[in-house]
Amino acid sequence: MKKIKLRIPATVANLVCGFDILGMAVHEPYDEMEFRLSDSPEIIIKHEDHFGLPEEPSQNVAGIVLLKIREHFKLSHGFEVIIRKHIKPGSGLGSSAASAAGAAFGANALLGNILSKNEMIHFAMFGEELASGVRHADNIAPCIYGGITLVKSPNPIDIIPLNTPDLYVTAVHPQVEVKTSDSRQILKKSISLKSAVEQWGNIAGLIAGIQKNDSALIGRSLNDGIIEPVRSILIPKFDEIKMKSIEAGALGGGISGSGPSIFMLAETKETAEKIAELMKSTYRETEIESFVYVSKINPAGIRIVE
Ligand code: HSE
Repeated sequence: MKKIKLRIPATVANLVCGFDILGMAVHEPYDEMEFRLSDSPEIIIKHEDHFGLPEEPSQNVAGIVLLKIREHFKLSHGFEVIIRKHIKPGSGLGSSAASAAGAAFGANALLGNILSKNEMIHFAMFGEELASGVRHADNIAPCIYGGITLVKSPNPIDIIPLNTPDLYVTAVHPQVEVKTSDSRQILKKSISLKSAVEQWGNIAGLIAGIQKNDSALIGRSLNDGIIEPVRSILIPKFDEIKMKSIEAGALGGGISGSGPSIFMLAETKETAEKIAELMKSTYRETEIESFVYVSKINPAGIRIVE
């Protein structure tokens, strides 16, 4: 195989209470990447989008992953990559993870499946490190495994794929910029034992709810007394959207990754669309433009489309 085209989904990291350990793939939005294996060792990255991202491989999230793979396997050939991003960088919807995971997945497919899923995650984390300074895998893992994943440990990599409950995800991306590095900087470095115990209860409850397909348990576990109170200050209308969504029938939700996107889970498409409408109308009252996506949880993750 010399050429391949991928569809790489957006991901919602943290799932409210699982900071840096839980993540979920959705269907919308998604990036597209085309890869060609070339005979020369050069790595060429071309962005066919409007985000102005650097194309120099060592400065590009996908490029750095390919450089690491080429170096590790002492490859004599290189890659030509065309990236069409639809997941806006800095949205909190796993934009950098999509480029990083897509690069590892595409290279692996062209090289004849020489990498395991966890090895792909290992290489993709170099891309996350370039983007945010941290080797976190909570967006990359659901991209590669699909569905919902638990990062039991990023080092050594230990990923637990969880069940995919039959739920709808509504995500709103208000057009304000929140850099992951900044929204990590403002977090408290230590927490009380009382807060930790509450969080353990929520994480355990959420995972049990996911595994048992118990929507009510999922809903009452989507609480975060540690990260959300600090980060939500950066997101206009966060409290209002959360309150209105729950009144409209959402099981619960919160900040997607490091924000500014907000996501909500719902049992029916009708409720998910009602939430989408109220999200849009809430931002319409402000000067802030917003994009809203409704989709189911994506059980497959990255897909080869050609
Ligand atoms: N877990 C990371 C964070 C995700 O919340 O900072 C960043 O997309």
